[in-house]
Amino acid sequence: MDRRIFIINCKNYREGSGEKAAKLLEYAEAASHNFGVEVLVAPPLLDTYYLARRYSGHIISQAVDTVGYGSSTGHIPMERLLDMGIDISLLNHSENRVPHNVIRDLYIAGESRDFRLVICVASVEELEELLSMDVTPYAYAYEPPELIGSGRSVSRYAGEELQRFTERCREAGVKPLCGAGITNEEDVELAIEYGSEGILVASGIVKHPNPLEPINRFSHILARD
Ligand code: G3P
Repeated sequence: MDRRIFIINCKNYREGSGEKAAKLLEYAEAASHNFGVEVLVAPPLLDTYYLARRYSGHIISQAVDTVGYGSSTGHIPMERLLDMGIDISLLNHSENRVPHNVIRDLYIAGESRDFRLVICVASVEELEELLSMDVTPYAYAYEPPELIGSGRSVSRYAGEELQRFTERCREAGVKPLCGAGITNEEDVELAIEYGSEGILVASGIVKHPNPLEPINRFSHILARD
């Protein structure tokens, strides 16, 4: 089995911005090394460049756009991320939805550049729609929007749907991940039980008084066979 993945999404939380994001990256780097799990941090976009100078191998961009270098304003070129040493991005997060035809274009662009996409979906139906368009990225992440930031985890409160999601991903040869409401060890254990190969967590880490604690506890669980 490949290393499991643990994505910490800073969103635009103040607690995950600037030097606080740098701290999370420091912890992510150590946990990746100590537990053999791929721990990645998605810093606020405005912080990405300066953090990439030190931690590019542990950064996942929060988003990417279809533009290249040149005449565009307010977009994130894939090429620029690659030049900064970042080869992976979230896409279609519930808080930043992307039309499916644009997702397909980005998927095709990513394939030719070895750029990995973690495409978020809100339901198994959305997953099916993207699979029917032959979009088979590095990973899909199931995040039911109503559970995001709720403290009620996807693995406990949407277990059946999660199971269908992971099975469908596996059939398609895509890594299944999940996120939303994950706050404790049991949530992580259940996610693995339902077939997830990794997790995405935001508030449960970023707003924790001592983020290192859950980072290490969750990494420890994700490292188990
Ligand atoms: O991308 C992960 C995120 O949407 C989950 O948020 O706060 O429920 O862990 P949260």
